[in-house]
Amino acid sequence: EATRTIGIFGGGTVGGGIVEILTKKSAYFKELTGSDLVVKTICVRDATKQRDFAIPEGCTVTDKYDDILTDPDIDMVVEVMGGTTDAKNIVFSSLKSGKDVVTANKALIAMYLPEIEETLANMDKPVQFRYEAAVCGGIPVIRSFQSDFVGDEVSMISGIINGCTNFMLTEMDQFGRTYDEALTEASRLGYAEADPTLDVGGFDARSKLKILMRLGFGVEVPEDKIACRGITDLTKLDFDYAKMMGGTIKLLGVAERVEEGKITAFVSPCYLTKEEPLASVSGATNAIEVSSRNLQSSTYIGQGAGRYPTANSCINDIIALAKGDKSPMPFNPLDKVTEYVDDYSSTF
Ligand code: NAP
Ligand code: HSE
Repeated sequence: EATRTIGIFGGGTVGGGIVEILTKKSAYFKELTGSDLVVKTICVRDATKQRDFAIPEGCTVTDKYDDILTDPDIDMVVEVMGGTTDAKNIVFSSLKSGKDVVTANKALIAMYLPEIEETLANMDKPVQFRYEAAVCGGIPVIRSFQSDFVGDEVSMISGIINGCTNFMLTEMDQFGRTYDEALTEASRLGYAEADPTLDVGGFDARSKLKILMRLGFGVEVPEDKIACRGITDLTKLDFDYAKMMGGTIKLLGVAERVEEGKITAFVSPCYLTKEEPLASVSGATNAIEVSSRNLQSSTYIGQGAGRYPTANSCINDIIALAKGDKSPMPFNPLDKVTEYVDDYSSTF
């Protein structure tokens, strides 16, 4: 009888959700994939800490990476611990030893996707890598870019791509909460990164925008070339002015084709009139608008952060791997952008 033996790095917001769903739906997943999906080991920073989810029977909780990395039984690694140093080693070491990998780590992918793709291409035995949860949590936006736009030509990607800050802006705008109150609540609800500077500074949105630019435009842009402003300078006065003018403020990530072969991009708080669809996207919801030649205008909307929406995307990746689906193509090479214009003022 077939078994996929899983090792999970991270037993926090996302890791806990993955374990819960795998446990709850184990019989159905077995029927669907033809394999028992067994979580053998969970690696965390503090193995003695009380968890807010049930550890599956027979599963070991450890703080030693090698308990997963050198275990020959484990053939699928789920990396949901975050960071770009140890997580990088874990992902590369897993792939190189023939273990399939699922991750939700956008910071890591934004930095190392080309290297990961190269590693995958040079493997003797095919190994699969998936990262649906890395952009916009529960919205299946990665697979949309990897399939729906394959014969299309994307001209603009624009949207709310950070749930923590959208939640905070909603709380500040609609419920009069202070910045600090809103951030504390966002962290409590599991929306914020372990280092919330990544959220409020716009850097998490920038990582996601970079990944989307690679998928939508086939372009690899150094992250620090993407103009980035977060929400840290926003005050009540900004919201009062926005209200007075009949609109609101949203943190947007925008990448736009400015002319043939060239794009520009930025992350910034933007004023939106209340008629604009993104103005009414509230809480941890994310929304992405894509303009393209064939599909013209497509909008993706859903929960962008939090335990179950994010775990749901990881589960879909795990099931796809257990079913033996091949990793999709990385991007549409037909209309590859060749130049990044480091001046987003052309988009206004
Ligand atoms: P989290 O709640 O802070 O959980 C992180 C987990 O990883 C914890 O269990 C922690 O162990 C463990 N960990 C952290 N550093 C470690 C290390 N050096 N060695 C071993 N274990 C370590 O984080 P999260 O919200 O689940 O996010 C995890 C990943 O998913 C991140 O890459 C994040 O960007 C991504 N993501 C999160 C969301 C979301 O809504 N939360 C959405 C999409 C993507 P301890 O529990 O012992 O401290
Ligand atoms: N901190 C991230 C956000 C998690 O709020 O969008 C989901 O990527």
